[in-house]
Amino acid sequence: MQIVVRSGDIGREAGDLVVLAQIEGQPLPAEVAGLLEADDFSAKPGQAVLLYPRGAIAARRLLLLGMGTAEALQADAVRRVAALAAQKAQELKLTSFTLALPAHLDLPPAQIGQAFAEGAELGTYRYLRYKTDTNNLTEVASATLLAAAEPETVQIGASVGQAVAQGVTLARDLANGPGNAITPTVLGEVALDLAQRYGFKATVLDKAQLTAQGFHGILAVGQGSAQEPRFIVLEHGQAAAGVPTICLVGKGITFDTGGISIKPAEKMDDMKMDMGGAAAVLGTMQAVGDLKLPLHVVGIICSAENMPSSTAYKPGDIVKTLSGKTIEVLNTDAEGRIVLADGLFYAQRYQPTAIIDLATLTGAMMVALGGFATGIMGTSQPLAERLIAAGETSGERVWQLPLWDEYRDVMKSDIADLKNTGGRYGGAITAGGFLAAFVGDWPWMHLDIAGTAWVERPTRPYMAKGATGVGVRLLIELLRSYV
Ligand code: BES
Ligand code: MN
Ligand code: ZN
Repeated sequence: MQIVVRSGDIGREAGDLVVLAQIEGQPLPAEVAGLLEADDFSAKPGQAVLLYPRGAIAARRLLLLGMGTAEALQADAVRRVAALAAQKAQELKLTSFTLALPAHLDLPPAQIGQAFAEGAELGTYRYLRYKTDTNNLTEVASATLLAAAEPETVQIGASVGQAVAQGVTLARDLANGPGNAITPTVLGEVALDLAQRYGFKATVLDKAQLTAQGFHGILAVGQGSAQEPRFIVLEHGQAAAGVPTICLVGKGITFDTGGISIKPAEKMDDMKMDMGGAAAVLGTMQAVGDLKLPLHVVGIICSAENMPSSTAYKPGDIVKTLSGKTIEVLNTDAEGRIVLADGLFYAQRYQPTAIIDLATLTGAMMVALGGFATGIMGTSQPLAERLIAAGETSGERVWQLPLWDEYRDVMKSDIADLKNTGGRYGGAITAGGFLAAFVGDWPWMHLDIAGTAWVERPTRPYMAKGATGVGVRLLIELLRSYV
């Protein structure tokens, strides 16, 4: 989609669809006010009224969208109206639209442009890879934002937003992709393709290399599958004095049956999204490459398929991870933490400023927070604060849970160093307590995206049913805070 930012006057804008976003309690422009009954549109958040001006103004259609009150207004309100506008254009089979925002918005101009581009791009996202008849579908090719102030700065923000939205789109496509198409091997190929396009240094370890180098966590989880596991590293920039090194570690279980501790049939199909963390890392790396961020960013993916078979790992098995620490497997369905053990330990070799892992790790986190926030926990309060701030700006909210020593103690095994389950109570946090054993003393935060990586019913107009691509917007905002 092409994003254009320019100045303009709502009354004189010709075009098939002109959109006016309005703040509650503010007067409509005179030329618009006469087109409707005043009480019919109060600009409540999400309110939409489509008008046919019939020559009263230059536009053929005028869509009024509510943004709520000025006091409550955040960048996400711009993202939402941009998505609603783009969706209306798509629904009407139009190829372009123009949106005007209220003249005085209490937001930085670059943030306005970014949110507009993200909303317009993500609002029209559809997963069409396996639809064989798309003849009747049209694409919105161009979105124009009428900027009230500093159009150059708004335009720069818009190009950031486009790079971010394209990263989110990659993450959504990967997580929506079925398990038979998106295998660990394919994730490795996607990573190599990104490396070629952006000049990343890439390492993709196959089964033989994982065996030779001692990645027995990833190997154990993958050993029941005909699909080979992969360990993937993408590196943007390099270590240098004054340049922060940020390691992003993604859980890449391309299908989670639960293994021998098999899951029930109902909704098992959703477990194709158990590589949502890996998808977010790949989407973020793409955006990092597009934005040429002056940072050292290392994307790490631990990928395997968790299957039950005669070669599968079993309850009671003991696995020696890359770190040398041993894990007693009590439940083969708690596989994410086992593959992450290898990836988190590996991240320490970069002497990172921060390690952040993303994983669809526990059903318990869905119980705790639902789909409305990603649960975070870890060993660095400054990093937690940075993530919380990035969550507010990006609209991908996070909520911190405690990681007291008691939660780590729960994960001690009688016969190995750790066990991989700690019972029902506090299950989201004991999973974090397990991971903590593999990050040494490096600043680390764990993001459990089990509840946010997938939506049955979208709660924002820029989401679509299925994969959300959660993490990409948040991580780019976080990374930009180090620049
Ligand atoms: N991938 C699942 C967690 C999950 C569940 C993600 C639903 C998204 C939606 C994870 O591997 C898992 O199975 N976790 C178990 C852990 C338990 C056995 C300790 C869980 O949460 O039930
Ligand atoms: Mn599982
Ligand atoms: Zn899983």
